[in-house]
Amino acid sequence: MKFLALAAFVSNLPLSLAAVSGFDVSHYQGTVNFAGAYSSGARFVLIKATEGTSYTDPKFSDNYVGATNAGFIRGAYHFARPDEGTGSAQAQFFHSHGGGWSGDGITLPGMLDIEYGPTSTCYGLSQSAMVTWITSFVNEYHSLTGRYPLIYTTNDWWTTCTGNTSKYSTTCPLVLAHYSSSVGTIPGGWPFQTFWQFNDNYAYGGDSDTFNGNSANLKKLATG
Ligand SMILES: *[C@@H]1O[C@H](CO)[C@@H](O)[C@H](O)[C@H]1NC(C)=O
Repeated sequence: MKFLALAAFVSNLPLSLAAVSGFDVSHYQGTVNFAGAYSSGARFVLIKATEGTSYTDPKFSDNYVGATNAGFIRGAYHFARPDEGTGSAQAQFFHSHGGGWSGDGITLPGMLDIEYGPTSTCYGLSQSAMVTWITSFVNEYHSLTGRYPLIYTTNDWWTTCTGNTSKYSTTCPLVLAHYSSSVGTIPGGWPFQTFWQFNDNYAYGGDSDTFNGNSANLKKLATG
């Protein structure tokens, strides 16, 4: 009976329990062993391209080419600085410095990394001003590429700085950061996380992430 019960449970596992491993990198993380990561089973990489209105990551090109040559599905991300200019201006800057998108099956929609500010948690913005800023970014990115960006955040930041808005829960896939053995509370009305960043010490360089689906689902996200 026990075995039968287990078999029934396994066959009823939701699709979302399938997973694809991957990682994210910025120049802070130094040299990345893309070939080693791919050999170990990782299949996607999220790569820092830009921050604010004028900063470009000095390792972006190397990382993007390295990831591409090793066979990864890859995408670029922008570190939001709502204290430095409008969302739409930052979406344009991101788009013209690596954050573009094409439905070629290997390019993920760009990601907006929005989290604790280097100088103040919510960059001095009220919750409603923060929602306005994010809306400006995601709508501009959508008009430039035809896709809504991924949104990377934490439960705590999203609750504190946006008032836990659910405004993007049906348009922007969630990339949830939570360094733990379980994903924890999912904020913002999102029904599930699309990616989960679960630690900051990936063996081949960068932070460890997992995609909440199978490899066909991942490829679909990278396809027009
Ligand atoms: C934020 O909203 C989610 C639903 O999306 C809910 O589960 C969570 O408890 C909310 N967080 C807070 C702090 O109210």
